[in-house]
Parts: sequence; structure tokens; C-alpha cells
Amino acid sequence: MVYGLGIESSCDETSIAIVKDGKELVSLKVYSQIETHSPYRGVVPEIASRAHLEKINSLLAVCLQESKLQFSDLKYIAVTGYPGLVGSLMIGAQLARCISLVYSIPIVVVNHLEAHLAVIALENELPAFPWLGVLLSGGNSSIYIYKGFGNLELLADTQDDSLGEAFDKVSAVLDLPYPGGPVIEKRASSYERPAGEKSPFPKLLKEDGPDKIRFSYSGLKTAVLYYLKTFIEAPPVEKISYYFQKTAFELVVRNIGKAVEKTKIRTIVAAGGVLANETLRSQLSLEAKTHSLQLYYPQKKIYCTDNGAMVACLGYYLWKENKIVGLDFKVSPKRNFEQII
Ligand code: KG4
Repeated sequence: MVYGLGIESSCDETSIAIVKDGKELVSLKVYSQIETHSPYRGVVPEIASRAHLEKINSLLAVCLQESKLQFSDLKYIAVTGYPGLVGSLMIGAQLARCISLVYSIPIVVVNHLEAHLAVIALENELPAFPWLGVLLSGGNSSIYIYKGFGNLELLADTQDDSLGEAFDKVSAVLDLPYPGGPVIEKRASSYERPAGEKSPFPKLLKEDGPDKIRFSYSGLKTAVLYYLKTFIEAPPVEKISYYFQKTAFELVVRNIGKAVEKTKIRTIVAAGGVLANETLRSQLSLEAKTHSLQLYYPQKKIYCTDNGAMVACLGYYLWKENKIVGLDFKVSPKRNFEQII
């Protein structure tokens, strides 16, 4: 039995988890800073690192207590090292160093983006590599060719805003709260589209041919803004939310289709905060069924947002491959950190 600790502090969630054998959750604690940052409509880095520092030790204590384990039972400490806010990453890194130093437990440094994808090991028997890793979050809209643990190749990326960011910005222009995802999803779901009604927003990147796979959401945000200007009275928020989601998700589905065509990889792993969206989950499931693709996404929504369980989970596989680092490991805001160290 291998117990591992996961430490996540890359952005606005402080989280600690203990995972058994890389596939069984023992304990998970997440403290979300959303309320702290919501007046600013985005994450304020300095506030985020201070909040991590305040919470992280108590989350660790609760996690150990709940799991009835001692530090000496842990075989490895996995910590998010990149990408993320450097001040925030340093809080988690320092905690990992302290525990490692006192209890002689090895550290593995985890790529936050990869951890979002690897978390499916907690709910499934792992499918054979390669996978198409589709990451849709507040900071990313990307597709990776995931060849093995610690081995990702970027296939498609966003040119500007990420999908989560688009939700957050459109929510702001509609005068809805931050973060935008959950509230836009709710408003969209109460819209009853009249038969035959056309979308007020154009199809995104329709000029891209089958080989060009990319994301871009800033044009959609602008289209929403111009559409809003056509209303003197209160705008139809439900309708706008509905067509915003529809337009945004159509690009996701189209890009996955192109990626499958291009790479011939038929195992899709989708993850990140936007995967909490039920409409997206059912659209992807339908697409997978129609085209006989193997689709995975986190069933538990807590695994969609940032969490320590995904870190402990990926950490297990890296630890098995002996990817241990010294106490002097670095953290980085860059996502391809492994290529520059
Ligand atoms: O992965 P994540 O928790 O963290 C960061 O990337 O920071 O993603 C957060 C993003 C936010 O932009 C939020 O608006 C979006 O995920 N999100 C959603 C939903 N829940 C969260 N987007 C669409 N529908 C949702 N239900």
C-alpha cells in the first residue's frame, strides 16, 4: 500500500489530499478563495499567496486526522510546481520541503495541467496511452497529445482568451457575478429556444480548415458586447447565455473532431473547471457515442476544479518512475517548465 500526499496551491484553491496507490482517494480538503477574489472579478496574486499561507497547515492537519495516518506512513509528497502564480506555488513548495526535510519523504514536482488530466485514474482503470488531453479552464483552452506520464505535446492552443476566461468576461458584461461559468450555465439552461431561431453570434473560426486546430474566444466576447448594445431596455440574459455557450462549445466539439482526425487518437480525456458544465459534458458524451470515441472526464465535480487529489494521483506515477527532486527544486509560471530545467 502506497500513501502519497498531494499539495495544490497554484492559483485560488488551497488543497491537500492523500491518495492510496494512485487510484483511491483517502482524504481531500479544498479551500476556495473565490469569495475573496470575487470583488476584483479575477485572482489577485498577492492576496492569493497570503490566503494559501493562512490555510494550508490547517488543511494538512485535517487531512491527516481524517485519514488516520502519520507523516511516516507517506511514501511521497507530490506538489504542484508549475504553471501557476509563483508566490502561490512557493507556499505549497515550502510546505513540501519542510515535511520532506523533517520526515525524509521524497518529493515529486507535478505539472498542474497534466494533473487535471491524470485525475481520471481516481475514477477509472487507466486507458492505454496516447490520449488526447482537452484542457478547458480559467487559464487554458488546449489540446495535448498525452503520450505517457510526464510526456505531453501541445497540439492546439488558444490565440487569446481561454474558455473559462470568456465565461468570466461575458458574465461581467452581463452584470452577473464572478466566476461566470456556473451562473451563465444556470441562466442558459432556463432559456427555451423558439423553433428555428438563429444564433445572434457567428460561428467561431469558420475559416479554419481541417488541419488548423486552435481556440479563440475574444471575438465571441466582442460579439456579445455589440449585441448587448442593440438593447435599450434590459437585455435577454438567458438568451445571450444560451447562444454564448452554444457558440463556444461548438468550437470545442469541432476541434476535438479535427484532433481525432489528425492524430487518429480515439481516447479523449477532458478536464478543467469548464468541464463542470453539464451542457458541455452531455455534448461531449453525445459526440463520443456518435463517433465511437473513448471519453473520460471527472465524474466528481470537485475533480474538475483545482484540487490536491489530482496532484497526489499524478505524483504516484511519477514517484514510481523515480522522478524525485531535491529540496532545491524550483517553481515556475511556465507550462513547459520541464523543457527549460
Ligand atoms: O480549472 P479551474 O477551476 O481553475 C483555473 O483555471 O483557474 O477553472 C476555473 C474556470 C473559471 O473561468 C470558471 O468560470 C469556469 O472554470 N467554470 C465553468 C463552470 N464552472 C467553472 N465554466 C462553465 N460552466 C461551469 N459550470
